[in-house]
Amino acid sequence: MLKTLTLTRPDDCHLHLRDGEQMRAVLPDTARRFARAIVMPNLKPPIITAEMALIYREHILAALPPDMRFEPLMTLYLTDNTAPSEIFEGRRNGTIHGVKYYPAGATTNSAAGVTDIARCYQTLAAMEEIGMPLLVHGEVTDPAVDVFDREKSFLDRVLMPLTQRFPQLRIVFEHITTQEAVEFVTGAWGHIAATITAHHMLLNRNAMFQGGIRPHHYCLPVLKRETHRQKLVEAAISGNPKFFLGTDSAPHPRSAKESTCGCAGVYTAHAAIELYAEAFEQAGALDKLEAFASFHGADFYKLPRNKDSITLKKESWIVPSQLSFGNETLIPLRAGESLAWKLIG
Ligand code: NCD
Ligand code: ZN
Repeated sequence: MLKTLTLTRPDDCHLHLRDGEQMRAVLPDTARRFARAIVMPNLKPPIITAEMALIYREHILAALPPDMRFEPLMTLYLTDNTAPSEIFEGRRNGTIHGVKYYPAGATTNSAAGVTDIARCYQTLAAMEEIGMPLLVHGEVTDPAVDVFDREKSFLDRVLMPLTQRFPQLRIVFEHITTQEAVEFVTGAWGHIAATITAHHMLLNRNAMFQGGIRPHHYCLPVLKRETHRQKLVEAAISGNPKFFLGTDSAPHPRSAKESTCGCAGVYTAHAAIELYAEAFEQAGALDKLEAFASFHGADFYKLPRNKDSITLKKESWIVPSQLSFGNETLIPLRAGESLAWKLIG
């Protein structure tokens, strides 16, 4: 039986595109599936001004194959020194859709991130005033905190107090991985939302140690135990508009992943919507995928919903064992393995 699934074209509300040759390699994977993406600013050097974001946006558009349409939605990288004027400028020139808060040292290219959120209060007040979303990488960097508890600890120590201090601040708790994060967002004010990745819906932490160490399953926040994965699935399929699609597709060269100190990041853009379709189907909730992928994110970011559509077919195909990535290679999630859904239009 031919089984197809047609969806309003989705948006990826959390994406790492990198720059230069690497970006040229990965951008078509996203543009084939998504109309728009919230593009993360953790480049080297990071995108810390509205002017830099405009230039990065031009790079992305210039790297897009001529037959593809795609709208990059830019973000600013919050530092201890980000001035309120930068936020106002980002709003004025219309480029900036959110400001990314990386606790300094939490993840890839976060060294210039925030050392103490109290240093950003003036800027956060400006964001609260104009409705500029704060996009949060929610993990503490305290080495004394167990790696698997860093999201929960961030929630208690940083995020909850922040929402009390700035009750109107629009917040996206990015790539949530725990039951506690799901419960917090569910119970919070309407302007507090969360993204959920496909890999956190599909994998629990055993995937990092399946028969040996699996560096391509290592990302941040790190995969959690099965009970948390189940809560993420429940949230994603709940129909609650606070939860929406953000892949956190984060490509790294194979050599940087397979290393004595391997980088965090899972590449999923090659099959992003197909992976979500698999997760939703496993949960018996394919009918809930469209709102999660195509409506909730657009509504939160106050963007018009997309008008065109994409179609997937229930047909298994084998993911290539590696992809080219500038001068390097890239190992995609499910490399050499089969996927149940295929994009056909
Ligand atoms: C991201 C990256 O590589 O840029 N890595 C990851 O594991 N998700 C950074 C991030 O979002 O934490
Ligand atoms: Zn990310």
